[in-house]
Amino acid sequence: MSDVSPLYDEAQNWLDEDLRKIENALGDRVEAFRGKQILLTGAAGFLGFGFLHFFSYLNRNILKHGQLSIVAVDNYIRGCPRWLNELAARSPSIKLVRKDITQPWLDGAGGCFNFIIHAASIASPKVYRKYPLETLDTNVSGLRHMLELAKSDKCESILFFSSSEIYGDPPASEIPTCETYRGNVASIGPRACYDESKRVGETLCYLYEQQHGVPAKIVRPFNNYGPGLRLADGRVLPDFCRDVLADRDIILRSDGSPTRTFCYMSDALTGYLLVLLSPHHAEPFNVGSESPEISMRELATMLLEVAGSQRRVVHIASEEADYLTDNPNRRCPNIQKARTLLGYAPTVDMKSGLRRLFEWYRRFAELEELVNEAIVK
Ligand SMILES: NC(=O)c1ccc[n+]([C@@H]2O[C@H](COP(=O)([O-])OP(=O)(O)OC[C@H]3O[C@@H](n4cnc5c(N)ncnc54)[C@H](O)[C@@H]3O)[C@@H](O)[C@H]2O)c1
Repeated sequence: MSDVSPLYDEAQNWLDEDLRKIENALGDRVEAFRGKQILLTGAAGFLGFGFLHFFSYLNRNILKHGQLSIVAVDNYIRGCPRWLNELAARSPSIKLVRKDITQPWLDGAGGCFNFIIHAASIASPKVYRKYPLETLDTNVSGLRHMLELAKSDKCESILFFSSSEIYGDPPASEIPTCETYRGNVASIGPRACYDESKRVGETLCYLYEQQHGVPAKIVRPFNNYGPGLRLADGRVLPDFCRDVLADRDIILRSDGSPTRTFCYMSDALTGYLLVLLSPHHAEPFNVGSESPEISMRELATMLLEVAGSQRRVVHIASEEADYLTDNPNRRCPNIQKARTLLGYAPTVDMKSGLRRLFEWYRRFAELEELVNEAIVK
């Protein structure tokens, strides 16, 4: 199959609506990327999709004379998606590198980096239960290699993706949850490989800042969604969308009562880039939406409405014994810190975001197909 298809061009034009929102929210701050070299890890993942498309959008529209360049690293533990080859084939400024970041960074793979965006991890609970040690290693030794690189390259800024999961299952008095809440997390159990290694990751960022002056930034994402989140990912929204696309009832794997808030990709990326470009080293920022805090049953019902489906929501328990072990009952951020210090202000309401996500899957899911190998330039 060719690496350059009209479907991808259509998708890129469609995505511009989201990317323009990020550009508008960042304003002149995007000039910080002019002529710079960026290392992005986890490039084949959901947030990797968003960052690569946003940077490519900046090069096409804003930084024409002084483009940024990106080294996009992934080990493709879950395969290489077709969109990545399509994008790289059109973008001379993107270099794809297959690399496992748990291994030391010996060869430089393309130069001295001004910014490092470290998004490599295994974020889907379904997948990290399958690869628990790889998950832990990536969040701890992988991050340490990136911090060493940031130190030797005298990076302007390195961004670490922690997680809202580091709060575990907070009591009602801690919801909405502030950065100052210290968490209620199990160190042993099916989610511990992820939650606990993200906590150590934050400590590593703090230590590298304290001991070596590395400008490490920390974000705690709260349930992001949007184009680029794979249908087969195993997270709740793609699972629900799969049911709707197949014209069957939406299957709830819990009783439908746990609640979450969801943050659309353009708002989330804006938050991450604001933190990356901020002077706030080694202190965490919640990035997400404060409302609506919605139950899984309400979410499923809203999706059916947005998709115009007459199907129902049904409960069928998962066959996986650990599916719900340590699953938090409520997850909802307090984002006042990011609002006050960074001017962060999410704008995409839940129904509009769901409409975009569903349209993405309906029109462009083919671009998620896995290809044998990433193109090498
Ligand atoms: N998306 C969210 O809602 C969310 C929520 C909380 C935290 N996060 C964090 O944000 C970051 C990005 O999340 P995402 O949703 O894009 O995840 P994702 O699982 O979609 O993508 C992660 C990518 O990292 C790659 N990867 C894994 N281990 C690697 C290794 N050792 N070397 C190189 N590449 C490796 C995977 O192949 C994958 O392409 C992760 O650190 C995740 O834990 C995301």
